[in-house]
Amino acid sequence: MTLTGRLAFITGAGSGIGRSTCQILARDGALIVAADKNKRNADETINAISKEFKQEHISLELDVGNSSSIDEVLGKILAEYGKPPTIIVNSAGITRDNFILKLSEEDFDEVLKINLKGTFLIVQKCANAIIDHGINNASIINVGSISGKYGNIGQANYAASKAGVERLTRTASLELANKGIRLNSVLPGVILTPMTTVIPDKVKAKLMSMIPMRRFGEPEEIAEVIAFLAGDKSSYITGTSIEVTGGF
Ligand SMILES: NC(=O)c1ccc[n+]([C@@H]2O[C@H](COP(=O)([O-])OP(=O)(O)OC[C@H]3O[C@@H](n4cnc5c(N)ncnc54)[C@H](O)[C@@H]3O)[C@@H](O)[C@H]2O)c1
Repeated sequence: MTLTGRLAFITGAGSGIGRSTCQILARDGALIVAADKNKRNADETINAISKEFKQEHISLELDVGNSSSIDEVLGKILAEYGKPPTIIVNSAGITRDNFILKLSEEDFDEVLKINLKGTFLIVQKCANAIIDHGINNASIINVGSISGKYGNIGQANYAASKAGVERLTRTASLELANKGIRLNSVLPGVILTPMTTVIPDKVKAKLMSMIPMRRFGEPEEIAEVIAFLAGDKSSYITGTSIEVTGGF
């Protein structure tokens, strides 16, 4: 139980990679705060893990695009546990895909707001709370995307947001290393979650042909890497990005 005694705060915890991360971190002994815009789905995440791993895990409603919603959630966590989380996973994310010639300004702004600004706000507010409480061992893991590294047709907004997440993570790691806060990104390839079920079959076939391992990833395969980055087995790793793509 490598994460026993650690409080973990996961955004986007109602689905896909965020939900799987809650399960894996709970398996490793962490107490889980599962936060999502969709509260009912976050409840389901917690109900499932509470049955299996009997601890006081909680679910909360959170909109990462809204600064006061984040303040409210952090306030609730401090009230409930008397301390801030020391494992923070930013998994909340959205896509609004379109070709650049047709991409609306609204869809550009919304994706940047949730994926990039949301990550910034969570990182800033959690890091301040950690420092205020005199804690000097914390790990923040931001979920980027391989699209942020190489781009992807139809995803100018999404790829830009995820490139931003990676560079934000790197920069924050430089600023916070001497406070005992490590920050790293995980860059998934194509992972089987509700986010990717909407990809048309033709596009899926093309993507598959670009994956040397010839299969899409499972959310647990991302969550296991997040668990490694969360715990002390990665104690000398900060500011890096780990690609989890089947070799894409
Ligand atoms: N699935 C993939 O292939 C893939 C690949 C690369 C990166 N990613 C990234 O992984 C992360 C998780 O994706 P997923 O595949 O699990 O997607 P998903 O759609 O299954 O889950 C995303 C979750 O984020 C929540 N969310 C959306 N907007 C929110 C907001 N404003 N505030 C709080 N929660 C919000 C949703 O309600 C949902 O529960 C995302 O950041 C995504 O960009 C996914």
